[in-house]
Amino acid sequence: MKNKTINWFKDIYGDSEGVSVFFAPGRVNLIGEHTDYNGGHVFPCALEIGTYGAIRLRDDNNLRFYSMNFPEKGEISSSLDKVLSGDELIYHRENDWANYPKGVLWAFAQHSFLKKYNIKDEHALINRGMDILFFGDIPNGSGLSSSASLEVLMAYMVKEMFGLEISLKEISLLCQYAENKYIGVNCGIMDQFAVAMGRKGYGIFLDTATLEYEYAPINLVGKKIVIVNSKKRRGLNDSKYNERRSQCEEALKRLQSVMPIKTLGDLSKEEFESHKDLINDDTLICRARHAVYENQRTIEAMKSLNNKDIARFGGLMKESHISLRDDYQVTGVELDTLVDLAWRQEGVIGARMTGAGFGGCTVNIVNEDCIQDFIKEVGEGYKEKIGYEAEFYVVDIGGGPALL
Ligand code: GLA
Repeated sequence: MKNKTINWFKDIYGDSEGVSVFFAPGRVNLIGEHTDYNGGHVFPCALEIGTYGAIRLRDDNNLRFYSMNFPEKGEISSSLDKVLSGDELIYHRENDWANYPKGVLWAFAQHSFLKKYNIKDEHALINRGMDILFFGDIPNGSGLSSSASLEVLMAYMVKEMFGLEISLKEISLLCQYAENKYIGVNCGIMDQFAVAMGRKGYGIFLDTATLEYEYAPINLVGKKIVIVNSKKRRGLNDSKYNERRSQCEEALKRLQSVMPIKTLGDLSKEEFESHKDLINDDTLICRARHAVYENQRTIEAMKSLNNKDIARFGGLMKESHISLRDDYQVTGVELDTLVDLAWRQEGVIGARMTGAGFGGCTVNIVNEDCIQDFIKEVGEGYKEKIGYEAEFYVVDIGGGPALL
């Protein structure tokens, strides 16, 4: 991939002297959905698919971005002065995908990470323009975090090229800041954290209330993770994502009138059940119930993995999907069809939707010797019911961002 990326760079920018190539992964969440903005736990892992970036610093302040995934958008240009000074404070629709790397540069200037250098003009630390070519092999809008991958890649390249002392954890926070404040999606920390902190062969059990985390080895002896793309595109921006988030905030506020809790993740199931009537709204009760139960399921899932009880892990994945379908209502006919079919196949340990929902992908744990049949049966059943084909990826757990 490195040579391919360098060759593309050469085609677009004329020559490829002095180019460096970097990579950042996508992620899949095994369990713990819509818990990250509720102070709960998540359990994602990085993938081997992701985003590649070829970068070369310039002698002036110009910024040029090109994506092999969006050749029709051509070269998108801007300048460091504009982005860092805040002139390009806002998302420009016509900049399309390039808002992500621009947003990251903007976040470097806006956020306090550069302040620790204790110099008068910390923006001067990023003091040269850049030519960058991107290529991603994560299907866009599939819920595997192509945007977090692009953001973390951009931040990591800037760190390496300018020698900035920013940790991977700080990179994830910086990128979440860019996504919240520049792109305008009120996402939690899971995606950026999973991408920045990924470790090959490990899942990341993260407490989003404290950002304490633990790497958990995923030893799926004789089993594989199979991701199924419903091909129903999920634009976070257009989705009901922000609405779900405000509903949880409202439910929390109502509970806080009598309970000293900071987040829904502070509640046990029992505490929730004995106080839920205070929420006094059926929809809000459902949303909050998902947040509370899903957090507890994620904690239990981690325990079952430690006890090598993969069957229980799979059972919890199923409960997670049902709760996302009935209480959180973020699945939809495409994802429900995929998991209904999956649950009926031989050799399936667990299956659920993954990511924000409203389309995107499912994650499945399948016995290796049943994968061919799984793909055939689920593929045919899906096509018959939905009318178009799903896509299947048998994946391995990859590492975090790297210079290639
Ligand atoms: C999206 C968001 C994450 C998380 C998931 C749902 O991927 O970016 O922060 O909330 O949805 O679990």
